[in-house]
Amino acid sequence: MSVFTEANRKAFDDLASSYDSKPWQITLSNQVASALRARKPQLGLRATAEPAHVRLLDYASGTGAVTRALGESVSCVRAIDISANMVARYNAAAREAGVSEEQAFAVEGDLFAAEVAEALTAPQWYNFDVAVVALGFHHFEDPALAVKRLAERLVAATGVLAVVDFLPFEHEPGAQMQETIRQHGFTSAGLERVFKAGGLEDFKFEVLSEPAVLEDREGRKKERRVFIATGRKAPTVWGKLAGWVGGLQDGVGGQMAMRPDQSGGGMFMPRKDAS
Ligand SMILES: C[S@@+](CC[C@H](N)C(=O)[O-])C[C@H]1O[C@@H](n2cnc3c(N)ncnc32)[C@H](O)[C@@H]1O
Repeated sequence: MSVFTEANRKAFDDLASSYDSKPWQITLSNQVASALRARKPQLGLRATAEPAHVRLLDYASGTGAVTRALGESVSCVRAIDISANMVARYNAAAREAGVSEEQAFAVEGDLFAAEVAEALTAPQWYNFDVAVVALGFHHFEDPALAVKRLAERLVAATGVLAVVDFLPFEHEPGAQMQETIRQHGFTSAGLERVFKAGGLEDFKFEVLSEPAVLEDREGRKKERRVFIATGRKAPTVWGKLAGWVGGLQDGVGGQMAMRPDQSGGGMFMPRKDAS
């Protein structure tokens, strides 16, 4: 683990026990939750309380703010955080609320490590319909690598990555948590570049109307502007080819439509496991 990532692990391990009790932190979590809930269709989620089979990756989950915000609209949540104490709090809160392990659990991990832990290569850690990172991106060592690695975990053509974070903010050398911050906020253009490079399309970026108010240990307040960005994973080449053939069928009035006896597959049918 790099010195920077280790600094994050240690800082958030130390913060975990007080994370959900600070009033400003609760207000910020509520702001993030409202922003996510208000954009469920953009995230590919239904508004109903009876979710179809929809899988959420809550990355850099902390104690589970994103899971609490969107849990009612998904059938299954898998969460990852680099801090063991955050993970323990996430799992304890979920069990206490009566959420089963099958429905939601968190593990300690880092998808951006040079060598990703083998446990995170199991099938249950892929094919997410939506991956959300709230207030984590400015703590990542390499945001471009983060987008790429998260995009790999999404369903092709429909999976959505959502990032909630801050617009560019002042670098304050010596201030608390500075050693855990790599990039002091993001611009729309900068984030769009890394989304595209990571294989995501249909980029959207919106700044929330209410600024966030953060507070340090001495009670000093600072304002930050919060944005929510989303992008959809591009189709696989097989998916694009299938779409292209579909387009041709439309274009020639269905002359190329398959006969029923041809529907079982063929040279140009995408394989289910193609990626
Ligand atoms: C500000 S907290 C946000 C937590 C939660 N998403 C929320 O909205 O309350 C940032 C979280 O990112 C986690 N984190 C930092 N670097 C990470 C990495 N490389 N991989 C996974 N988690 C990481 C920290 O442990 C911390 O829990």
